[in-house]
Amino acid sequence: MIDAHPDHPNLFVVDHPLINHKMTHMRDREQGRRTFRALATQIAGLMVYEATRTFCTEPVEIETPLEAMAGVRLSGATTIAPVLRAGLGMSTGVLEMLPTARVAHLGLRRDEDTLEPEVYLEKIPHDLAAGPVLLLDPMLATGGSAVAAASILRDAGARDLRMLCLVAVPEGVRAMREAHPDVPVFAAALDRQLDERGFIRPGLGDAGDRLFGTEEL
Ligand code: PRP
Repeated sequence: MIDAHPDHPNLFVVDHPLINHKMTHMRDREQGRRTFRALATQIAGLMVYEATRTFCTEPVEIETPLEAMAGVRLSGATTIAPVLRAGLGMSTGVLEMLPTARVAHLGLRRDEDTLEPEVYLEKIPHDLAAGPVLLLDPMLATGGSAVAAASILRDAGARDLRMLCLVAVPEGVRAMREAHPDVPVFAAALDRQLDERGFIRPGLGDAGDRLFGTEEL
């Protein structure tokens, strides 16, 4: 189990050479959409390894081609909850590792003037308490979107809730700790700060725009 960040007991930075290498490529403004998407998928998949480390398993009897043996399988039903749009860029990689997971779609957009999140879609499996729930959003900026998403999932019954993001800033991590102290935040990187427009610095730009080609030219 990786240690919590010394300044943020709810934050677990998945500090790994492969992730750091891929994050540097993602941040590079010269990377095109194909590479940006591929890297978001790959990094999210790698992060699953740490984010699921404390998942519960249960014994299961199987027959190998040679004999019977006791194996294990994951307990309960896992759900992933990508925050639209940018969370979708992580969902492919996570589903490659957890191919039977259910998907809860949460549509949230951040008003770029007030920085407040607005909910425009909730499509959630009915029994979220049946297993762990992984909240996916590449960017934890003010934390408004993540706090709102976690509240929606809690209200829908989620008990074991964990967040995965690519870049976080201290402001967002603190907001999550205040609102949802029992939700661990797994991040590929902790960045320096939010700027006056609410952008993560140094960051990777607007993940949704870079994933889906809607950046303003
Ligand atoms: C971005 C990002 C997060 C949110 C982070 O989404 O994907 O959801 O902003 O900001 P916050 O921590 O200050 O709430 P955006 O609203 O740009 O929507 P998009 O993913 O559709 O581009």
